[in-house]
Amino acid sequence: MYKKFFIQTFGCQMNEHDSEVMAGLLEEIFYIPTTDIAEADFILLNTCCIREKAESKVLSMLGEMKKYKAKKPDLIIGVCGCMIQQKNIVPKILHASPYVSLMFGTNNMNKLPDYLQQIAKTSQPIYEIVDEDSDADLKLPASRQFPFKAYTNIMYGCNNYCTYCIVPFVRGRERSRRMDDIVEEVRGLAADGVVEIMLLGQNVDSYGNDFEEDVSFADLLREVDKIDGIKRIRFMTSHPKDFSLELIDVIKNSWHICPSLHLPVQSGSNEVLKRMNRKYTREHYLDIVNNIRAAIPDVSLTTDIIVGFPGETEEMFQETVDLVETVGFDNAFSFIYSKRPGTAAAKFPDDTPLAEKKERLQRLNQSLSKWSHHHNKKYEGKIVEVLVEGTSKNDDNMLSGRTDTAKTVIFPGDKSLVGKFVNVKITTAQTWILKGKLEEKE
Ligand code: 5AD
Ligand code: SF4
Repeated sequence: MYKKFFIQTFGCQMNEHDSEVMAGLLEEIFYIPTTDIAEADFILLNTCCIREKAESKVLSMLGEMKKYKAKKPDLIIGVCGCMIQQKNIVPKILHASPYVSLMFGTNNMNKLPDYLQQIAKTSQPIYEIVDEDSDADLKLPASRQFPFKAYTNIMYGCNNYCTYCIVPFVRGRERSRRMDDIVEEVRGLAADGVVEIMLLGQNVDSYGNDFEEDVSFADLLREVDKIDGIKRIRFMTSHPKDFSLELIDVIKNSWHICPSLHLPVQSGSNEVLKRMNRKYTREHYLDIVNNIRAAIPDVSLTTDIIVGFPGETEEMFQETVDLVETVGFDNAFSFIYSKRPGTAAAKFPDDTPLAEKKERLQRLNQSLSKWSHHHNKKYEGKIVEVLVEGTSKNDDNMLSGRTDTAKTVIFPGDKSLVGKFVNVKITTAQTWILKGKLEEKE
């Protein structure tokens, strides 16, 4: 008898990929996925703890689980991922939601099938958090969300200890996967029909630094670029302190690496950058941007920015706005600083009221959306190649896909085109999306 599972994923692509791996593990023990949470026999929340809001969402969703458990006493409710890897979180969750019967962190998700089998046998809950870092060479199956695009982890963990960030505490030290294993995995994905690959790591530019031999991220990209069938290569996340000129060269001279770079700047103020422990200056960041644009003129640049870091004054914030105006990003994720217990910045004095931080975020977002619209406008009248990802969220007759520069394009078309490359003529540029119509390929 098949059992049904429902996984809710919070947070970044790394978590999304972990959920794909866990779905793959579950399918090996005869669980099948369901999109209807009410009919699931196993509900798993794969959590994120990067900001307080991410945690509150998990806690409130756990509260809603109570009604499902009341209706179906055999239901197993599990919580896993980054949030669980933090100190003292298990008792906190159990206090609020005692019906949670499985909790595990990021280092032991490979044991999920064992845990479920044990719970089925003994009816006893399992809460297991493993502190040491998991084996970076572990090969696990993945049940992919999309047949035509896939994530591949190239490394785990982060050594950077940016002072605001909880990731190094929950994801451990940097561990790179062997290049041969990555290449073999991507070849397998290509053979399986995957045309777009996203290489994942917290800081991909330091790939290979933990190896004795001299292997860099640029070397890895050159190898992945040679794999037949992979038409688009993306990667995230880069760190400005490690971003090399060699990398720019590899991207420029590659066949398949997309001209689309996500390079988090976090702040435009040198003082704030210093206290964030980012290890680069605004001048260095602007230099990288100039080098990238000189080599790859049609590149699309995106970033992450934190507003209201402890001690950020209005002048320091203005330096961030000024940097945004200087670079003119294609898109950006902007966040209000969220205090994470255990990080260095949690002890920094922070006297800016939240209302003021919110107001700064609004001003920043105005500048960001202005630039996004500006870049999108340049596409009007052009024909772009789009990989169709699915139907539009709001309209089943519309398709949604992406350009190599990661712009979302919405256009009328038939579902049979999902997973295919098509040419689309852009008719209207909006702030965050492009609209267009299909062009016949000659
Ligand atoms: N508060 C706000 N934003 C944060 N980020 C990481 N930690 C925090 C925090 N404590 C943001 C950074 C990072 C992105 C993934 O999340 O901008 O690049
Ligand atoms: Fe966090 Fe900094 Fe590591 Fe990114 S590089 S995961 S922001 S510590």
